[in-house]
Amino acid sequence: MQSNSSQLRVLLVGAQGGIGGALLTQLRQRNDISHITATARDPAGSSLTTRTLTWLPLDFRRPEDLDGLTAHLEKADAPLDAVICTTGYLHGEYGGPEKSLGQLTPETLAHTYAVNAAAPLQVLAACEPYLKRADAPRVLVLSAQVGSIGDNQLGGWYSYRMAKAALNMGLKTAAIEAARWRNRAAIVAVHPGTTVSPLSRPFITRRRAPVSSAAETASRLLELWARLTPADSGSFLTSDGETLPW
Ligand SMILES: NC(=O)c1ccc[n+]([C@@H]2O[C@H](COP(=O)([O-])OP(=O)(O)OC[C@H]3O[C@@H](n4cnc5c(N)ncnc54)[C@H](OP(=O)(O)O)[C@@H]3O)[C@@H](O)[C@H]2O)c1
Repeated sequence: MQSNSSQLRVLLVGAQGGIGGALLTQLRQRNDISHITATARDPAGSSLTTRTLTWLPLDFRRPEDLDGLTAHLEKADAPLDAVICTTGYLHGEYGGPEKSLGQLTPETLAHTYAVNAAAPLQVLAACEPYLKRADAPRVLVLSAQVGSIGDNQLGGWYSYRMAKAALNMGLKTAAIEAARWRNRAAIVAVHPGTTVSPLSRPFITRRRAPVSSAAETASRLLELWARLTPADSGSFLTSDGETLPW
């Protein structure tokens, strides 16, 4: 079964986050999307599930939630045209960004890695059979420029940098695999640009460089998403589509 491009089916992971929530608002305003599956750790909107929007609980600390996503995709039994993954962990109950080696803890490293690096690839693996059935599936996963090894000049933020670098490697590898699918797939890692959100808020108060609202970032990301082609697959991009160094 091939999908009709005016009737796209989209999976949005992290639809209650700062950037994820803004993406959901804008995706719902488009008329080329027939169905959105939106995930959140504790979906406040679950009672608002409609014919065109399904909410699923997805907390990466609960393996059964990933089983629930798999079961949902199996039940839908339809091509999946897009996966947009906006989840990430920088600070919280498992610790925050380290300034020095002495602050590294196994707990922060493991959790930051699980959420930022492992989970998006696990989601992608669950989606693979359905992405393969779409004509030109597009996968956009939010990474971070601080995950660039080549661009690292300031140091610090060990766990987050390491996890996003690992995510980038996973996505590049998945893009190589997807190039062998019989469709026109594109898989990219994207730095959204500094954006006001719960993740960034503690770190942007004294920042002079421009900071976007979540709505502005979501618009840029959807413009980028709309023009992704297989030629972009396996790249690490800014939300404006500029290539970033690995
Ligand atoms: N904001 C920036 O300036 C900036 C800069 C560079 C990169 N990024 C990246 O952009 C992405 C979006 O960030 P944001 O700014 O929108 O941050 P945010 O508002 O804090 O959103 C983080 C998202 O991650 C989800 N999440 C966290 N832990 C999770 C877990 N254990 N299981 C499942 N989901 C989990 C949250 O889910 P719930 O809402 O359900 O709790 C939320 O959807 C992240 O990948 C971040 O690393 C952001």
